[in-house]
Amino acid sequence: MKIFIYHTPELTPTDQIPECAIAVDVLRATSTIATVLSAGGEAVQVFSDLNQLLAVSEKWPANKRLRAGERGGGKVEGFDLGNSPLDCTSDLVTGKRLFISTTNGTRALQRIEKAPIVLAAALINRSSIVDFLLAKKPETIWIVGSGWEGSFSLEDTVCAGAIAHSIVEKTGVSIAEIGGNDEVAGAIALYSQWQNDLLGLFHHASHGQRLLRLECLEDLKYCSQTDVLNVLPMQHEPGVLKS
Ligand code: MLT
Repeated sequence: MKIFIYHTPELTPTDQIPECAIAVDVLRATSTIATVLSAGGEAVQVFSDLNQLLAVSEKWPANKRLRAGERGGGKVEGFDLGNSPLDCTSDLVTGKRLFISTTNGTRALQRIEKAPIVLAAALINRSSIVDFLLAKKPETIWIVGSGWEGSFSLEDTVCAGAIAHSIVEKTGVSIAEIGGNDEVAGAIALYSQWQNDLLGLFHHASHGQRLLRLECLEDLKYCSQTDVLNVLPMQHEPGVLKS
């Protein structure tokens, strides 16, 4: 196994495809996806374009669908939900497909959708991702942060570091052996520094601050938890994730 970490989708190579690609958008798209699937959602289907989401979801039975739209951290008018994982209770999502478009997270998933294995990771389901990787041992693994409109995001890189840190810890393999690029040692160092205060780190993150301005402190608290959901969101067809 070789792990490559990319801080944003734009930094991923365009001439290669890894055996396994993992999208990370801790605040909040992949945290929401993990939550919906853990709470009994039938699937999550991601779109970068809001109009395409509306057109595709229109063909789905109305009582079996939820539409989630987020731009700039806020809910898009006319959609059932924004992008708060806390809204995704099992009462609401069980048996339903969530059609979702967010500013960055859904774009990251689309960027890697051609990989043979595509996963969605957050801190809350980190251990499920690590267990899968250790059982499957893909030759090459990309962990791709969603960032914010092309820029680095602390919360995504710390999650990438949390995954790599756990693999190093559980296998005893050195960072030099498992790391495919320099970002891996950097992300592990970031996680090692903040692992006991991830919520504190989110307060330093620009998107954390944006969400705090939108009064989403409870979302930050929820998304800063580690290993609390046993769910593996995996792509079953392009753009469609199931557990
Ligand atoms: C994104 O895709 O950029 C995020 O998930 C934004 C958000 O916090 O809703």
